[in-house]
Amino acid sequence: MDELSVRVGFVVVTELTDEQRVARDWATTIASVETVSLDALADGAIDLSAFDVVWWHCDLQLDDERRELAADCADAVDSYLRGGGGLLLTLNALSAVEELGVDPVAPDAVGTESSPHPTGLLAKSIHADHPLFEGFDTLGVHMQPPEVPRPFARYEQILPADGQILASVVHGDDYLVNLNSVVEWQRGEGVVYGIGAEVSFLSHRGHEFETMGSNEHVLRNALALLGGDNHRRPTFTDRPTDADGFTAMRERLADDHHRPRYHLAGPANWVNDPNGVIQFDGTYHMFYQYNPAGPFHGTIHWGHATSEDLVHWEDHPVALTPDPDGPDRDGCWSGCAVVDDDGTPTILYTGGRDHHQLPCLATTTDPMLRSWERDPDNPIIEAAPDDVDVLRTDDWAAEFRDHAVWKVGDDWYQLIGSAISEVGGVALLYRSSDLREWEYVGPLHAGTEGHGTVWECPELLEFGEYDLLHVSNYADVRYFVGRADLDAPDFDVESEGLLDYGDFYAPQSTVADDGRTLSWGWVKEGRGVESQWHAGWSGTLSLPRELSVDEHGTLTQRPARELETLRGRHVSLADQSLGAGDSTSLPVSGNAYELNFDVAVADGGVFELDLFESPAGLERTTVGYDGERVVVDREHSSRTHDVDREPRSMPVDGDSLSLRVFVDGSVLELFADERRCLTTRVYPTRADADGVTVGARSETQDGRVELRNFDAWELDAAFDARSRD
Ligand code: FRU
Repeated sequence: MDELSVRVGFVVVTELTDEQRVARDWATTIASVETVSLDALADGAIDLSAFDVVWWHCDLQLDDERRELAADCADAVDSYLRGGGGLLLTLNALSAVEELGVDPVAPDAVGTESSPHPTGLLAKSIHADHPLFEGFDTLGVHMQPPEVPRPFARYEQILPADGQILASVVHGDDYLVNLNSVVEWQRGEGVVYGIGAEVSFLSHRGHEFETMGSNEHVLRNALALLGGDNHRRPTFTDRPTDADGFTAMRERLADDHHRPRYHLAGPANWVNDPNGVIQFDGTYHMFYQYNPAGPFHGTIHWGHATSEDLVHWEDHPVALTPDPDGPDRDGCWSGCAVVDDDGTPTILYTGGRDHHQLPCLATTTDPMLRSWERDPDNPIIEAAPDDVDVLRTDDWAAEFRDHAVWKVGDDWYQLIGSAISEVGGVALLYRSSDLREWEYVGPLHAGTEGHGTVWECPELLEFGEYDLLHVSNYADVRYFVGRADLDAPDFDVESEGLLDYGDFYAPQSTVADDGRTLSWGWVKEGRGVESQWHAGWSGTLSLPRELSVDEHGTLTQRPARELETLRGRHVSLADQSLGAGDSTSLPVSGNAYELNFDVAVADGGVFELDLFESPAGLERTTVGYDGERVVVDREHSSRTHDVDREPRSMPVDGDSLSLRVFVDGSVLELFADERRCLTTRVYPTRADADGVTVGARSETQDGRVELRNFDAWELDAAFDARSRD
C-alpha cells in the first residue's frame, strides 16, 4: 500500500531526465504517481483535478520553449489551485512561477553549484513549526553531499511579490541566510511550495550519504501536505495584510524575553533605519527599512506603523516594495517624507539596482499613506554630481544615498549622504522648486580626519539661531551644531559630538504639529547572524527623543514626554547615602521599566546600577558612574557566546548626574542630564535575569554615593499583541 494516499501528477516536458526518473521512482514508492505532460496540459487534454498534487521537478534550465509551454498552462494551474490543489515546484521549476501565473517575480538566481561541505535547507525560525519541516529538530538540515554539482533556483537580490520565504540554505555550518530557497504561496484554498535548491536526487549517486534521508523527508512532507492534509496546511504568514495577521506574527515572538515591549520593533524579520517619519493629519507615521525575507539585511522594503499618541503603535502592510522593473529593484533604501506644495504626501528614497543607488520619488493619495505611486521619471536625479570625486566601491559605482528634504521660502532643499575619494564623508546639498527637478548646489559639509569615510543619512535640523547637522558614519552618529549657509553652501561648525555613545544609528526626525523635533534611530543588534536567525527578528527603533539646541548652542535630548503615559506600577527609594559595599535591590521585574534618579559621587565613590541580574547573580549588566563617565559593563551580561561584550561609555559633566534608564527586553537606553544618550543591547541568557540593584563601591576608604529622587515604573506595551506576561 502507498505510504501516502495521495495522487501525484508528475510533470514532464518531453522525456524524463535521469534526475526526474529517480525522483519519480522514489515518489511511486510512497504515493500513486502518474506522468503529466506539459504539452497535453497546455492543449487542455488533461484535467488536473484528478490529482491531489502536481509536482514539477526540473533539473534543466528552462528554455524559451519550456517557458512558453508553462505560460500556456497558466489558466489550468490557476483553476486547479483555486479549487484547492497543491503544486510543488522543485529545482528549476521554481523559475517558472511567472509563466505559470503563480507570482509576477521569478527567482533572480538560477544555476548549478557545489560546495566542499554538505548543504541543506535552513528553516526560518518563525516557520520552524511549519509541517514542511516536521521531523527535523534543528533549523538547518544537511540534505546534499559535498562536492557534487546540482541545480538551484533562488531569490537572492529580489523577493517574490506574494510568496513568503520559509527557508534559506546552510553550507557546512555557514548560514547563507540571503539565499532564499523555499517559498510558499497561498491561492485561495490552493497552495504552492517552491523548493529551488537542495532536493536533487542524482547528486546522491555513489554517495553513502545520510543526507538522502532528509532530502526525501522534506519532499514527503511536501507531498503529504499538498496532497491530502489540507487542514494541516498552515495559514500563518509572515507577510500579513491585516491587523490580525500582524497580531499573530507578533505573538509568535512574544515568549522571547529579548523582544522589546515598548520600543517600536518590527513585527519580525529585519529592521534597520527609520524612514519617512511624519505626522500627517495628526497621525504619526513611521516607515522603516524592512526585509520580509528574514532577520538579515537584504531585499529592503519599507515597513509601516502608525500611532496617534507616539507610544502605542499599529502595524500596516509593507508600504513600499522594490519594483522588479524599476531603479529600486534591489531595494528601497532610506529616505524621508514631506507634504508637497499641493498637499500631497511625497517620499524621496534611494533606489538600488546593480551597482547604482539613485534618488526616487513616490506620492500617495491615501490619507493613511499605505500605498505609494512611483514617479514615472525615477530616478529623479540621474547620477551623482560629477564635479566632486564621489567614492566608488566594490558595491556601488558611487556612494550616494539617503535623503533629508525641507523647505525654506519657496525652495526645497535636499541633503544626500555621500563620500569623496581620499577625503571622507560628505553631505551634498541640492535645491528644487518642485521636488522633481533638482539642482546640485555643492557640499554642505565634509568630514575631516576621524569623521568617517562615508556619510549616511544626513539630516539638517533648525533650532532658532542654530542648525544641527548629523550624519551616520558607519560607526557613530556625529552631530555638528552651527549655522548652515545654503547658498555658499557651507556649514560653520561651533561644536560637535555624538548623538549617542552606543549602538544607535541612522536617526531620522520630524517636526511634530506642536513644534517639537522628534527623532528615532535604529538600535542595532549586538549578536551574530546565527543568533539573529534563531531569534527570527533583528533590530528595533529607539524611543522617540525630543531634540533641541538652546541659546548657548547646547544640544538637549530627552525622551518624548508621552512615554510617561506608559508608566504602570511605581516603586521609589528613599534618598540615601551609600558607602562601599552597600546595595539595595529593587522590587522591579520583567525587564520593561524606566528608572529616573539623581546621583552624586564623592571621595572616590562609584555608583553601580546592576540590571538584568540573574537570581544567582551570575549574569548582570552594570551601569557605573564615577563622576566623569557613565560606563555600561557587559562582561557578565550573558553566557551566550556570540554577543558583544565590549563596554559602552559616555562622558558626563558636573559633580552629579541625572539619569533616566530605559530597560526593555534586550535594549538599554540611557539619557544623561537630558544631554547625552547611550543605547546598547544586552542579551541575558535567562528570562528571569531581571533583577535590579543599586549600590556603591569605592577606590578609597571614604568613597560616598548620594542617591536622590529615585523612581521606577514598569512600562506598558507599544503594540496590542499578547505579550509574554
Ligand atoms: C544606514 C543605511 C543607509 C541605507 C540603508 C540601507 O543604516 O546603510 O545608508 O540607505 O541603511 O538599508
